Amino acid sequence: MKDFTVDNLTETVVEAYTHNASPRMKIIMKSLIEHLHNFARDVELTEAEWFEGIQFLTETGKMCDEQRQEFILLSDTLGLSMMVDAINHPKGGKGTESTVLGPFYVDGAPEVPSGSNIIKRDEGHEKVVVEGRVTDATGNPISGASLDVWQTAGNELYDVQDPTAPEWNLRAKILAKDDGTYSFVSETPKSYSVPNDGPVGRLLEVGKRHSMRPAHLHFIVRAPGYQTLTTHIFVAGDEYLDSDAVFATKQSLVVDFADCEDETLARTYGIQAPFKRANYNFGLMAE
Ligand code: BEZ
Ligand code: FE
Repeated sequence: MKDFTVDNLTETVVEAYTHNASPRMKIIMKSLIEHLHNFARDVELTEAEWFEGIQFLTETGKMCDEQRQEFILLSDTLGLSMMVDAINHPKGGKGTESTVLGPFYVDGAPEVPSGSNIIKRDEGHEKVVVEGRVTDATGNPISGASLDVWQTAGNELYDVQDPTAPEWNLRAKILAKDDGTYSFVSETPKSYSVPNDGPVGRLLEVGKRHSMRPAHLHFIVRAPGYQTLTTHIFVAGDEYLDSDAVFATKQSLVVDFADCEDETLARTYGIQAPFKRANYNFGLMAE
């Protein structure tokens, strides 16, 4: 039997976790254990601090349910989600850039034809017509594409955060046309705060960080034979573009939401002018 010390414990723990593991688990567990132990050594972690960390993680776990994903939020606000994104989708690749999924995606939104209005509770907020095309990475139209879209309402909440919201408010799966074009009507999104009433909110406070995200629409774009794209479009000019609480902005995803007074177009979409109009083409990479 060996007595463990600050200097020999790490290699023993690594060995215990890796000698029977698969090759990938070996790589992951070795690095994870070494980084964890190095962290504790580097900062000379006290027992009280270690326990505070355990309590923080416990509280984070207790906060998670179907509606609230505090661990995703923790990963997002620590920049880990965007680090994973950057590793898996390096800059300079072809096609539209990706960004975080966030904790508010819900699978199974109703499929609606291109041109639909996705507002289920119209509270008179400014409308936006979003239009564009789904193409391959070189700009050729793709048929059979769908665009899952979701966003916050005027009260800065997603439908799943607001018990009074109708189901699937500002959330749908838009079916693009055969020529790849798509459009839909929604509300002009506003900047909003990520949930800050839990442990992650306290962490932001400790770092003297705000909890705001610049106004955006979320998308998951899919088409047969192409890689699924998870991304946002951001509203140009938003005051939080440079300080997103989750570090998820990218210049190529910032879009002009232009003023539009076109009465004919408004009638086509069953809304009233003036409204905003945004155009964005999504380029998908082949599988
Ligand atoms: C969101 O945009 O929905 C989001 C992303 C990351 C953390 C919290 C919210
Ligand atoms: Fe969002």
